[in-house]
Amino acid sequence: MLVEKNVPLQPYNTFSIVARAHTLVRVLQEADVRAVLADPELGPAPKFVLGGGSNIVLTGDVRPVVLKVEIPGRRLVGETPKAWIVEAGAGENWHDFVSWTLDQGWPGLENMALIPGTMGAAPVQNIGAYGVELQDRFESLDAIDLETGRAFTLDAAQCGFAYRDSVFKHVADGRAPGFGLAGRALITRVRLALPKAWRPVLGYLDLERRMAETGIVKPTPRQIYDWVCEIRRAKLPDPAVIGNAGSFFKNPTVTAEQCADIIAREPRIVHYQLADGTVKLAAGWLIDACGWKGKSIGQAGVYEKQALVLVNRGGGEQGATGGEVMTLAKAIQTSVYERFGIRLEPEPVVV
Ligand code: EPU
Repeated sequence: MLVEKNVPLQPYNTFSIVARAHTLVRVLQEADVRAVLADPELGPAPKFVLGGGSNIVLTGDVRPVVLKVEIPGRRLVGETPKAWIVEAGAGENWHDFVSWTLDQGWPGLENMALIPGTMGAAPVQNIGAYGVELQDRFESLDAIDLETGRAFTLDAAQCGFAYRDSVFKHVADGRAPGFGLAGRALITRVRLALPKAWRPVLGYLDLERRMAETGIVKPTPRQIYDWVCEIRRAKLPDPAVIGNAGSFFKNPTVTAEQCADIIAREPRIVHYQLADGTVKLAAGWLIDACGWKGKSIGQAGVYEKQALVLVNRGGGEQGATGGEVMTLAKAIQTSVYERFGIRLEPEPVVV
């Protein structure tokens, strides 16, 4: 086990925020976690699990011991009559894994191409894009309990997946014992079930537009992958060029009555009817309507092409601080609340 001190975290968070880890340990295998837990100094200390750093806002130096998950490996571990079961180490890059599964002839992840981050982080916020969420392809995961050192496996139901949410984002409280695993579990391996009878998922407006433009009515998985990459590159900033953490807010849901009320005032509001009768509103549209696109507070800004994405306009040491990002986020929340009566909820984890 190699323990590093005073480690710059700027290369390890896609927002490119300057901060340091007092102590950082790279986790390459399960035994590294057990070594940390058995260590007289590190064992009892608070811990912070870091994956690809694509969904966090660092608001200062990180005092808990940073466990940077770099567990490698991807392989076919089984098959059922309906699916290929494919496993990846939590440190594998999500997009590389998507490309690899397509190369192997196991489609099913193409709608989620180019989402930044690691395999281990994917279940935490139940990543999703263009009509497919991780939970639609999830089989099970292995994790280690950072309090007891015990390894355990969870299936989809036990992960408590919901829109950009899971058991890993909730802290245990007396109300639902055993539910909250935030800060407690380190995900080591993730298994996905990729359907043998592949069917394209094309219901998303941006993909329908591509079909109309190209005249392709029966796209292959590779074609959908290419379209998704094109669409994302056109409207989302590349974190390697402009620091960001993807969508900064979740799309809020409201009741049908609340929605009718808002539509009466704002007829152009972008909304989607959900199966349970509630309505999802496009947070990007709400923020855009409040005039935030392209605006900045300090070095933190609202991306010009997609108001749901906050960006770091500076580079190196001169970049945005986590404080500036959160000040901008709060100002946006206030103006959306004042105009629409809707509270936006941040998507990334604020550290
Ligand atoms: N819109 C505006 N102005 C804006 C941004 C969006 O009017 O500045 C409108 C768009 O015109 C569109 C609607 O809002 O009608 C929705 O926008 P978009 O299709 O870009 O999707 P989104 O709701 O903003 C969500 C996910 C993305 C995911 C896309 C595609 C959330 C929080 N975000 O974005 O996920 O890639 O759908 O499925 O659910 C992420 O989580 O980091 C992420 C990028």
